[in-house]
Amino acid sequence: MTADDVAAFRTALAATFGYDADLEDEGDADRFAAIFDIERLYPAFDGDQVVGTGGDFGFQMTVPGGGQVATTGLTVVTVRPTHTRQGMLTAMMRRHFDLAQERGEILGGLWASEAPIYGRYGYGPSASIVNAKLDVRHSGHGSAEEGVTVRLVEGPEAERLLPAIFDRVQPTRPGMYQRTADWWTHRLFYDPEKYRDGASSMRHAVAESDGEPIGYVSYRQKASWDVLADGQIRIRELMPATDAAYRALWHYLVTIDLFPIVEYWNNPADDPLPFMLRNGRAAETKVSDGLWTRLVNLPAALEARRYQTDGRLTVQVADSFCGWNEGTYLLEVNDGVGQCERVTAESDVSMPSSTLGSLYLGGQGARGLARAGQLRGDVASIQLLDHMFRSYPAPWCPEIF
Ligand SMILES: CC(C)(COP(=O)(O)OP(=O)(O)OC[C@H]1O[C@@H](n2cnc3c(N)ncnc32)[C@H](O)[C@@H]1OP(=O)(O)O)[C@@H](O)C(=O)NCCC(=O)NCCS
Repeated sequence: MTADDVAAFRTALAATFGYDADLEDEGDADRFAAIFDIERLYPAFDGDQVVGTGGDFGFQMTVPGGGQVATTGLTVVTVRPTHTRQGMLTAMMRRHFDLAQERGEILGGLWASEAPIYGRYGYGPSASIVNAKLDVRHSGHGSAEEGVTVRLVEGPEAERLLPAIFDRVQPTRPGMYQRTADWWTHRLFYDPEKYRDGASSMRHAVAESDGEPIGYVSYRQKASWDVLADGQIRIRELMPATDAAYRALWHYLVTIDLFPIVEYWNNPADDPLPFMLRNGRAAETKVSDGLWTRLVNLPAALEARRYQTDGRLTVQVADSFCGWNEGTYLLEVNDGVGQCERVTAESDVSMPSSTLGSLYLGGQGARGLARAGQLRGDVASIQLLDHMFRSYPAPWCPEIF
């Protein structure tokens, strides 16, 4: 795409997602220019009108074991309602994967607006998210974390402390990708009034132990009174680097006077919040899909992660959309390190690439996926696959891209 197409691209993107692009807002324009690499955006034209949009980010994403993997993050996918169901998305996806192959990106990720769209292109949901809404008046809470203090930070201090904490956490959880300085400036710290939905500007609280920053939470406050104070804390990002920081930050969040409702839309699937409350049931939770994953270069991706259990399995993968992956592979794991090669042997387990996408980050068990009819094999092989691929901690992606 060229710079001349940016305005039409932004207009089409906004229109299909149901809002209006504010082309006059210089902040929005700067943000778009800083976040997107226009060489990685691909508009679809009908004549000279942009009728479809798509693009990707190049990320380094954590996989089980802590390795950083070149990942293509699909984003800004839209087709105007006048042009849907004519194969435009399929054409974009073709281009997306072919370019990823050329660039040497071995993994693909996305957040889906609707769950039925992306399985056909080989993606599977791989990192669940837990929405939590907590009424502190019912839940109660434990005591403060000894040895950890929490203080509010802002401006340059927040801009210095938060990325350093994030960088400490990022390699420890599969599904988290590295953030650039531009991403910090134009995403987490970009805080115009129109993004606040009636709530306050973003607050940042940092947990410290012996003066060392060990975690942060970024949140907004929405004041509300109906005789009794009924305000909300809306968490944007909770990033504890230690367990003590996790407990201290939650204790802080549930003891803010006048704000008894704490909402968080994106807790990791292994989040133990209810266990910290006197009445854990008061944390209303809802689980849904977050990050979706697909293997672009199958053997390279399987060798990039680490495994919980050693073993040997032949795995047959059906992948019609990225046909270069289709085939049977021997995955041999020694000391947690996998070697993967194409073989002609009979397979122990077989699955479509979307199922392998769901398994890859270690958040979905092979036994459950087999139960759902997503993979086949004998019981012992499925059990071994399950033990090999599981990851602790659970995969999690802290933000939509
Ligand atoms: C999702 C969207 C991009 C699909 O574009 P499209 O050009 O209509 O898709 P295609 O014509 O290439 O469809 C490919 C296949 O996916 C199916 N499909 C497309 N969108 C679908 C949806 N929302 N739900 C279920 N199936 C869908 C089509 O029926 C078609 O199936 P077929 O091959 O069996 O006939 C388009 O509907 C759209 O812009 N939606 C609103 C914005 C959005 O949700 N974007 C995705 C952001 S993650």
